[in-house]
This record gives sequence, C-alpha cells and structure tokens, in this order.
Amino acid sequence: MLTIKDLHAQVEDKEILKGINLTVNAGEVHAIMGPNGSGKSTLASVIAGKEEFEVTKGSVTLEGEDLEDISPEDRAHKGVFLSFQYPVEIPGVSVTNFMKTAINETRKAKGLEDMPAKDMLKMIRDKAELLEIDRKFLSRSLNQGFSGGEKKRNEIFQMAMLEPKLAILDETDSGLDIDALRIVAAGVNKLKSKDNAVIIITHYQRLLDYIVPDFVHVIHNGKIVKSGTKELALELEEKGYDWLKNEAVV
Ligand SMILES: Nc1ncnc2c1ncn2[C@@H]1O[C@H](COP(=O)(O)OP(=O)(O)OP(=O)(O)O)[C@@H](O)[C@H]1O
Ligand SMILES: [Mg+2]
Repeated sequence: MLTIKDLHAQVEDKEILKGINLTVNAGEVHAIMGPNGSGKSTLASVIAGKEEFEVTKGSVTLEGEDLEDISPEDRAHKGVFLSFQYPVEIPGVSVTNFMKTAINETRKAKGLEDMPAKDMLKMIRDKAELLEIDRKFLSRSLNQGFSGGEKKRNEIFQMAMLEPKLAILDETDSGLDIDALRIVAAGVNKLKSKDNAVIIITHYQRLLDYIVPDFVHVIHNGKIVKSGTKELALELEEKGYDWLKNEAVV
C-alpha cells in the first residue's frame, strides 16, 4: 500500500526527515512513537503532500504510484486521510455540510455524480451512530467551540465518512477522556479492514491497548531508530526514549 524509501525532507532549509524507510501493507496498523520534535508530524505531512515540506531525497509511493508530483487534494482523492494535530475551525460551515462537500469532491475526482441526498443522510446517520456522535453535534460549525475531545471525535467521523485507504492519525488520543478514547478506538477498529491501513502517531501506550498495532516504530531525529511489535510500546513506556538514541538504524 505505502512504501517510503530513504525519505529526506526539509522545511525552511532545515533537514527534518533524514532517511525514513517504511512499508505499510493493506490490513496493517502501524504506530509511530518518538520524542517531541523528532519528525512524526512532518512525516505525516510529507505523506499527505503538504507543500511547506520539501522532499530532497527518496520517495513515497502509494499502491505503486510515486506521489511526488501529486497535490495534497489528489492524494486525498486517492484515499490518503490525515487527521490534524491541531484541527482548523471553520465558522459557518456545519460538520454535515463540510462532510457533504468533502465526499462529493472525492466523487467528482473519480468522475462520479454527487451522492444522492438521501444516501448521504443515511451514511451520515450510520457513521454518527457507529461513533456515538450526537445528532446535534452534526449541525454545529466545524470545530468552532469544540472541546478537545469533540475535535478528535469529529476527525474520526470524517475518517469514517471518507473511508480512506490509508488513514494517518496524528495524536488523535491527546486530550481524550477514557470514554472518548474507547469510542475513538472502537471507531478505528470498526473501520479497519483487509483493504485499508492505519498509521497512528501517539505518545501514549494507552491508545495501543485499544487499537492494537501490528508494528511499532520509533522516530528519533528524523530517522526510524527502532521497529518492533506492540511490546515495543510497552518497553518505551517503561524505559523512555533515551536508551534508543544510539540504536543502529534498522
Ligand atoms: N513549518 C515549520 N517550520 C519550521 N520548523 C518546523 C516546521 N514544521 C516542523 N518544524 C520543525 O521540525 C521538527 C520536527 O517537528 P514535528 O512536528 O515533525 O515533530 P513531532 O515529532 O511531531 O513532535 P511532537 O511530538 O511534539 O508533535 C521540529 O524541530 C519542528 O520545530
Ligand atoms: Mg507532532
């Protein structure tokens, strides 16, 4: 599904990613952990194609297609979904209308007609129910006045609606209370299938009790310094990151 080879990326002449190698297959969940400022969000942004980051070396391919010259919008249409560490507020645009537009944009890019209103409504209801989202919430302005937990839940709702091939969740767990964490995790688990893949960026092992990853990677100073299974997350919780700083790149 996703193949990243020797990826180097910089922002404002500062090199941040220094040779990332990562392969994510369909059906897999990968967790990315690592200290603040190590390059996790940068990696997510580069996969999503955000323009402030310049790829100086290496490649990102999605289902065999090199993404280099593909715009962020087209990447989204191809099924890449990135949640935001800091979601934007859009006054005057409701959660529902934002979703309608996003879905119809994606359909248009595939040469499809708008989704019939009835089907859209049903889909919105079904997905909201799946994630235990209150109906009233859907008519509110996007992210405006949302609590931290509501923003995160809304991200998962967007993901549920868009049914991406590759979902990247950047700190979706931060600021969630235990119940919300369970709901978000249950949502991600329900959306998981053999045809899609999820990359979860997190600081806390806690989330990985609910969404069990197939692989855990640690990024330090722009490189993956260690990869393992879910036990690695437990080890990190216990030992912190210091012991990894001198690990050889795998
Ligand atoms: N737009 C930008 N301009 C300048 N520097 C940036 C920019 N974006 C990221 N950086 C720098 O790149 C480095 C990596 O940032 P990044 O956001 O990828 O870290 P992170 O691993 O996600 O950290 P955190 O755990 O705190 O979210 C940091 O030193 C950060 O200051
Ligand atoms: Mg980050």
